[in-house]
Amino acid sequence: MNPVPVSPMTGHQTEVKDFGMELHLQGRSAIVMGGSQGLGLGIARALAREGVQPCLLARTEDTLRQAARALASDTGITPLWHVVDFSNPDSVQSCLTTLRDSLPETDIIIGNGGGPPLGPATICDPALWQKEATTMLLPTMQLVSQYLPGMRQRQFGRVIMVSSTSVAEPIPNLVLSSALRSALASWGKTLAREVARDGVTVNTLLPGRFETDRIASLNRIRTEKAGIPLEEFRRQKEDNVPVGRYGQPEELGHMTAFLASPLAAYITDTCIPVDGGLLHGF
Ligand SMILES: NC(=O)c1ccc[n+]([C@@H]2O[C@H](COP(=O)([O-])OP(=O)(O)OC[C@H]3O[C@@H](n4cnc5c(N)ncnc54)[C@H](OP(=O)(O)O)[C@@H]3O)[C@@H](O)[C@H]2O)c1
Repeated sequence: MNPVPVSPMTGHQTEVKDFGMELHLQGRSAIVMGGSQGLGLGIARALAREGVQPCLLARTEDTLRQAARALASDTGITPLWHVVDFSNPDSVQSCLTTLRDSLPETDIIIGNGGGPPLGPATICDPALWQKEATTMLLPTMQLVSQYLPGMRQRQFGRVIMVSSTSVAEPIPNLVLSSALRSALASWGKTLAREVARDGVTVNTLLPGRFETDRIASLNRIRTEKAGIPLEEFRRQKEDNVPVGRYGQPEELGHMTAFLASPLAAYITDTCIPVDGGLLHGF
């Protein structure tokens, strides 16, 4: 039985069960960008539980090793992993070259990574915009373009991007996230139409607030600025989510595993919130 996610602040809980739905993913492979922790690791775990072999990409070798060991012991599937820095074009190029040999084909690509820093729209730092655009857009596009011909030929492929609710509703003081994620989601929608007849689907997930290191460090920065205790800030944030708690990374993983499966062949060109009801509009 999986642990029951419960908010330490509000006490709301929801049981995340393994309902045992057959997703027909056994024997597939996936590349999970930013797969060593947080949402990426939650997705890799959900996929591995369905018999998918993940290949994890991130910067820190130790964390990758630990994640691979944990996945192997939890799921019985031993992941591949590669060190790469998405902000460094040479590192991305060398990763693509290595992957061409170690993983010539893949079925599923999870476009994910670290998020951009906080910042307002009133200040424009061209170097920062250039760096974040390079980091957040190009590696996903390059990886997809390397594997797309094989996916189209085999008439099966899944491109799933981990984005943010900021695509549907910009988040104050997080302009890089809102603007660049919208650009990537738009690229995905364009791609979805181009490959729709080839068994390849392209979708973007819009996570709300999930329990990860990134959200913890953003919350620390925000509370220091606002001068309120971290626990109080967290309680407010959770109270704003209709289900009353942050999500667990594996809950995003469940949606991802379904979208990756052949059962989701008729779902493409969409942006799907996974946010405990945070987004209210259509
Ligand atoms: N958590 C949330 O509630 C939430 C909500 C909406 C959107 N998001 C977005 O979803 C994405 C994942 O979030 P998260 O909370 O899972 O973040 P996280 O816990 O910080 O994990 C980020 C992952 O990406 C890797 N990574 C970071 N920078 C990288 C780089 N330059 N090159 C290669 N790998 C890199 C990290 O490993 P290394 O540090 O070792 O490289 C790690 O595996 C982020 O873009 C975040 O903004 C998160």
